[in-house]
Amino acid sequence: MSGTSTAIDSEWFRRVLGNYPTGVTAVTAIGDDGEPAGMAIGSFTSVSLDPPLIAFMPGRASTSFARIRTANSFCVNVLAADQEDVCRAMAGAGDGKFAKAAWTPAPSGAPRLDGVVAWIDCEFESVTEAGDHYLVLGRVRELHATGERLPLVFFQGGYGSFSTS
Ligand SMILES: Cc1cc2nc3c(=O)[nH]c(=O)nc-3n(C[C@H](O)[C@H](O)[C@H](O)COP(=O)(O)O)c2cc1C
Repeated sequence: MSGTSTAIDSEWFRRVLGNYPTGVTAVTAIGDDGEPAGMAIGSFTSVSLDPPLIAFMPGRASTSFARIRTANSFCVNVLAADQEDVCRAMAGAGDGKFAKAAWTPAPSGAPRLDGVVAWIDCEFESVTEAGDHYLVLGRVRELHATGERLPLVFFQGGYGSFSTS
């Protein structure tokens, strides 16, 4: 793939950046209406060990993030290779986001999905505008990984799983 342009075409931007493989997470919270909110997020990364900070980038137009943001805390659920249906539900609009996975409250109260590879329970540290997205920093309060499940991987617009070379 190659392309040169000073005004970067957004479809081209997506296609080229889609060559960077990511895991897939579901960021969840209990909104101020008392109902669970969640969205699929690939733009998740660790940021700092001391203090323990992570980051993700939700779109500014996301209705789910608008609800997540009403909470003090959120949980990052790292999806397993067999949770593509959970991912699709979390990436869809409207109701049914929690139809594909049972959940229990994480220590903060945010939904911790069953069957995930790991979960990271956080408080909001900051929310900064970054173009058409926000850059969200979360301060990690508790976290856990089972060490038994393989992650779901997203690459070039498709789903796969991880294998060692
Ligand atoms: C694999 C995958 C990764 C995604 N990563 C992000 C992301 O990092 N940021 C984002 O804003 N949306 C991301 N999305 C899209 C949102 O999950 C989706 O647009 C949103 O939840 C639905 O819109 P709503 O929030 O208005 O309900 C991703 C979707 C998929 C399938």
